[in-house]
Amino acid sequence: MTLRVLSIASEAAPLVKTGGLADVAGALPAALAPHDVAMTTILPGYPKVMAALGAKAAKARAIHAWPSLLGEPARLVAGKLGQHELLVLDAPAFFARDGGPYADGGGRDWGDNWRRFAAFARAAADVATGAAKGLAFDLVHAHDWQAAMAPAYLRYDGSPLPSVMTIHNMAFQGHFGAEVFPALGLPREAFAFDGVEYHGGVGFLKAGLEAASAITTVSPTYAREIRTAEFGMGLEGLVRSRGARVHGIVNGIDTAEWNPETDPALAQRFSLRSLPKRLANKRALEAEFGLDSDADDRGGPLFVVITRLTWQKGMDVLLEVIDHLVGLGGRLALLGSGDAALEGALHAAAARHPGRVAVRIGYDEGLSHRMQAGGDAILVPSRFEPCGLTQLYGLAYGCVPVVSRTGGLADTVVDANLAALAAGAATGVQFNAVNYASLADAIDRAIALYHRPDLWRGLQRAGMKSDFSWRRSGKAYADLYRSLLPQG
Ligand code: ADP
Ligand code: GLC
Repeated sequence: MTLRVLSIASEAAPLVKTGGLADVAGALPAALAPHDVAMTTILPGYPKVMAALGAKAAKARAIHAWPSLLGEPARLVAGKLGQHELLVLDAPAFFARDGGPYADGGGRDWGDNWRRFAAFARAAADVATGAAKGLAFDLVHAHDWQAAMAPAYLRYDGSPLPSVMTIHNMAFQGHFGAEVFPALGLPREAFAFDGVEYHGGVGFLKAGLEAASAITTVSPTYAREIRTAEFGMGLEGLVRSRGARVHGIVNGIDTAEWNPETDPALAQRFSLRSLPKRLANKRALEAEFGLDSDADDRGGPLFVVITRLTWQKGMDVLLEVIDHLVGLGGRLALLGSGDAALEGALHAAAARHPGRVAVRIGYDEGLSHRMQAGGDAILVPSRFEPCGLTQLYGLAYGCVPVVSRTGGLADTVVDANLAALAAGAATGVQFNAVNYASLADAIDRAIALYHRPDLWRGLQRAGMKSDFSWRRSGKAYADLYRSLLPQG
């Protein structure tokens, strides 16, 4: 029997993306299709998403309307996410704004985010339970706090529809003051310890975790880590109490978007069999970043970093090791955006090391592909990383990952210790603590390996051979969905 799943996400590539959630939500429908799961995605109608639907389609195909959705009129519009079904919540009062999905152009969170995403979740719960004629679903799959009120609404509606709640990042929980509660349209008993109440306020992610039939997160190691205070960020007790219902399913990569053999963004396409061709991408990247060219390729490696600039990603520690990295002959190309203080400090580091360190501030999808294809190694010194995708793209593109041993980074990179090197299994370098000494040591190891071309090529090859497609994880989600259906 084909299973009909409504995937509820606040972003999905290629329509709207601020991070890995979009990659995953965008890839899931295709990942589930081989397992007889028909996934429809519902997204908020941000300007970009509405524009992608096309004015005519948006006008003609409203398939449901809410006269008042948490106080504002809204419509449901149908479209396509690639080959797959898409529903868009067109609610201009909530989503027709310049700026990002969660914050204004200056990076300040929208003050009414609680209402915007409660409305989104309320609409999704309505649609899941048949509000729109002709649409029916067997299960909902909610992603992160922005979608997390959907399982809570289903619970307090008394709906038997099963739900899966995926945690992509425990650091974002959607925690608001108690004063928002009356406007959520929930019965009074929902404001309870095992409901939506959280430290005297309202917790969206918390409410979803309490209500969902099953909880997943995006790697087995992170599933274990969030049981502890350091990573659970206040919700570790709840995660532990739901014990057996918490699953770690590692993200795959969308091989239609991320394949060095077909990637249109690259100067030169290449494959495992034509690895030497990769060099053309390195030359192009040096030129694009204005870095010294290492024409005979005997100098140090070209490290790349592609990231949101936040505390999570360990960029403050990266800043501390830049002089060390350059002193050993390394070069660094960084693409990122986020924290203004980090942006300034990175620019200063680049100014100190002309030709050796270059920084691009901004969000540039094409450049991120060219960096994976042209860099020798990608640095990911995250303090925590639920899964992480940039190290997976690095593996697929022969850009050797140098990562901290946490979350999905620990699960997806095989450290180049002697045993793993001897077995040909090593794919990168891991280090334990996110501090100067540990990261500097990892960079030393990476540079030493780079100067052993036979070993380095072995790392690249083993990475490119490993299977990070959605094949296995798609099946894991499908099996989980089916296990939640009512028997018979
Ligand atoms: P997170 O979701 O925590 O940011 P992930 O590694 O899961 O971390 O996903 C990040 C995604 O965003 C990847 O697809 C990465 O290539 C992309 N990305 C991050 N920063 C940038 C940037 N400045 N420009 C282009 N792509 C970026
Ligand atoms: C989050 C996490 C990241 C993960 C992504 C997709 O943004 O920070 O580790 O890869 O979600 O699941």
